[in-house]
Amino acid sequence: MYTQALDTHGKEPVPPVAGEADSHAARFQARIDEEEKIEPKDWMPEAYRQTLIRQISQHAHSEIVGMLPEGNWITRAPTLKRKAVLIAKVQDEGGHGMYLYSAAETLGISRAEMLEQLLSGAAKYSSIFNYPTLTWADIGAIGWLVDGAAIMNQIPLCRCSFGPYSRAMIRICKEESFHQRQGFDIMIKLCQGRAEQKAMAQDALNRWWWPSLMMFGPPDADSVHSAQSALWKIKILSNDELRQRFVDQTVPQADYLGIKMPDPLLKWNEQRGHYDFGPIDWEEFHNVIKGNGPCNRDRLRTRVQAREDGAWVREAALAYAEKRAAKAMKEAA
Ligand code: 3HC
Repeated sequence: MYTQALDTHGKEPVPPVAGEADSHAARFQARIDEEEKIEPKDWMPEAYRQTLIRQISQHAHSEIVGMLPEGNWITRAPTLKRKAVLIAKVQDEGGHGMYLYSAAETLGISRAEMLEQLLSGAAKYSSIFNYPTLTWADIGAIGWLVDGAAIMNQIPLCRCSFGPYSRAMIRICKEESFHQRQGFDIMIKLCQGRAEQKAMAQDALNRWWWPSLMMFGPPDADSVHSAQSALWKIKILSNDELRQRFVDQTVPQADYLGIKMPDPLLKWNEQRGHYDFGPIDWEEFHNVIKGNGPCNRDRLRTRVQAREDGAWVREAALAYAEKRAAKAMKEAA
């Protein structure tokens, strides 16, 4: 096996000498403070390993479930070009999920375990993917806002302390930036179109704006993992800092499109040098992450169905691999 993590399968090795754990922990934190990357074979506290497994697997699940709302529009894309671009984007999300599952596997959890956690409903994935895509404008709004929020959150993750996660994020962010531009391009076309098309763009913005702000997670004061994750440089910027940056970046883009954020309290604050914005409905957020959003059940049902539909392919591939291995053994004998 190629990592200590896989050998121990997530169990922290017992230090042989009293006090050794403290010196391991001190050296580990010093490496993080020096901006050194932690690699899978390196010593790490069990809590660091578990935090990363939690975050990276949730992130991977988000990419995989995130394929569903947009996949819903592939057959109804308005032109051949839009259809080809959307297929490519949805495929990219699947690829992101694969990089991220691989990064999590280096920490000693198997892909099968992670998938089981997703399909049983035990694992979280991003709240945003539990909202429906009602019109073509939603595909524009997802690219512009959801991928925009994802990039805002993920660019700092390129500098996170765990090597495999940070390297996966560099590649993913390059693709996300294309995704964001394709969404904005759809919004531009709609906003420059007929009044009905512009109204469709505005309606999509109205429905996706607040859920996009929720993507960054609870306010810092209520974020249970933030303090420790910041110390370990898993989190470089806080939930609220990222949310504010996203608002500041996105409001001028809406102005350019000629549509309005659905927030009467949104206002440039000269003193702070940031936009002030209205209160977020955290009750809605908690309801969605508990499994009660508009599409939670449908999303999981679709993933479970996909696993069942694909079972015969996995069984056939396994049977073929066993047949080949048996043949190779016979020939070698
Ligand atoms: N949706 C669902 N759950 C969320 C959430 C959200 N938007 N925001 C926070 N939570 C959950 C956390 O997972 C945690 O639950 P847990 O303890 O059961 O694991 C709880 O709420 C408390 O939140 P914290 O702020 O303490 O949690 P974190 O420190 O993990 O911060 C995070 C949350 C900022 C989302 C962080 O996990 C993170 O940066 N994750 C990596 C990025 C990611 O997963 N992005 C998802 C979107 S990917 C995407 O959009 C795909 C693209 O192609 C569009």
